[in-house]
Amino acid sequence: MSDDLEYRGGQLFFSGIPLAAIATSVGTPTYVYSMPAIAARYRELAEAFAGTEHQLCYAVKANSNLSILAALAKLGAGFDIVSGGELARVIAAGGDPARTVFSGVGKSVEDIDLALKRGVGCFNVESASELARIVDRAALLSCRAPVSIRVNPNVDAQTHPYISTGLKSNKFGVPKEEALSLYRSAAQSEHLEILGVDCHIGSQIADTAPMLEAMDNLLALIDELAADNIPLRHLDLGGGFGVRYENEATFAVADYGAAVRQSLGRRALKVMLEPGRYLVANAGVLLTRVEYLKPKADADGRDFAVVDAAMNDLLRPALYQAWHGVDTVAQLPVDGAQALDRDWDIVGPVCESGDFLAKARSMTLWEGALLAVRSAGAYGMVLSSNYNSRNRAAEVLIEHDGYRVVRRRETIRDQLEAELAGLEAPLRAVS
Ligand code: LLP
Repeated sequence: MSDDLEYRGGQLFFSGIPLAAIATSVGTPTYVYSMPAIAARYRELAEAFAGTEHQLCYAVKANSNLSILAALAKLGAGFDIVSGGELARVIAAGGDPARTVFSGVGKSVEDIDLALKRGVGCFNVESASELARIVDRAALLSCRAPVSIRVNPNVDAQTHPYISTGLKSNKFGVPKEEALSLYRSAAQSEHLEILGVDCHIGSQIADTAPMLEAMDNLLALIDELAADNIPLRHLDLGGGFGVRYENEATFAVADYGAAVRQSLGRRALKVMLEPGRYLVANAGVLLTRVEYLKPKADADGRDFAVVDAAMNDLLRPALYQAWHGVDTVAQLPVDGAQALDRDWDIVGPVCESGDFLAKARSMTLWEGALLAVRSAGAYGMVLSSNYNSRNRAAEVLIEHDGYRVVRRRETIRDQLEAELAGLEAPLRAVS
């Protein structure tokens, strides 16, 4: 399900723009995002937390295109990053490092130094060793590092196992039993400024209950710390709000906002949220064209539509068996095209049987048909690769009543560039 998609006169429009016109001028495969749709989701979430002091930190990993980051920064968003690269993107897009939280289990020395120098708002610390490294780097740079400890509350988010992060068996965060002593030792360091506590229990979460259970765990810790004279200023509840791809329940953000407010009670805490998918998933489609139809030869076969986008462009179906809606951009075939009504497996050109975008979709297709793969705004382009030496897709952003190319299509020159010098590189001797 993507927001803002509708047929008008037999043609699919996205936020008022005919998708066929974009494909004609930019080519395929192309990701198309709608800024009006992203802004609507942003405002909905901000509205749900209007009565609570809060900060929305967009999870850059969901879609890191600079133009989307810039537009979100203008709407007032802060950011959640997981690498120095993402910090560089936030800065290039005009985002404020001071309104940025830095998550991730494996922060390198370089990443920590960059974040300290650029004045990142808070490090979401994931282990005792990481905390020690941050203290060392802050001491070297003669500064104080703002920190929060990511607590692993051991709550089941009931989502796909690859994107569940709040269980003991996951690599993320510090077990809640260890968090108290880590805070106590952090409070001894002159190079740390303890700001808050955070958690993130998973992604594509449908139900508010596990999120609220995780919050209760954090509140218990906050109260214990306050009694210990370690007052916290913020509570970062992470992201993970689920969206509708097929017929799933959309995460009830208004109910969640109200429940969070109630659980907070009289505590003077700023609530931080790290939404990624919720803001961008249904504000994006992937445009792709049917190259060949391979209808089955006998009853045991399958009907394949080979399109020009592949698992290297949109990995989610191959990696998580994720379901994405697929529609033809023109409702009727162009004159002369042989249209076939079948249960199509929509597959890409990559040489792997796992290379599919959708399976067994009952629809009418013809060679040359333009397709829109829905809900592709989150974890689409960011998970793309050059597998099979395919150039990465172009990206387009719809704003107001027009659109802009916000990332040009990659060229083979782009791909070769980093390797050409290697053909002539001298051997390095190892002593
Ligand atoms: N905060 C942290 C610390 C995270 O690890 C994540 C996502 C988020 C926030 C944002 O979660 P969201 O609101 O987008 O659910 N590639 C997978 C999703 C991986 C999510 C990783 N962490 C997918 O395509 O479904």
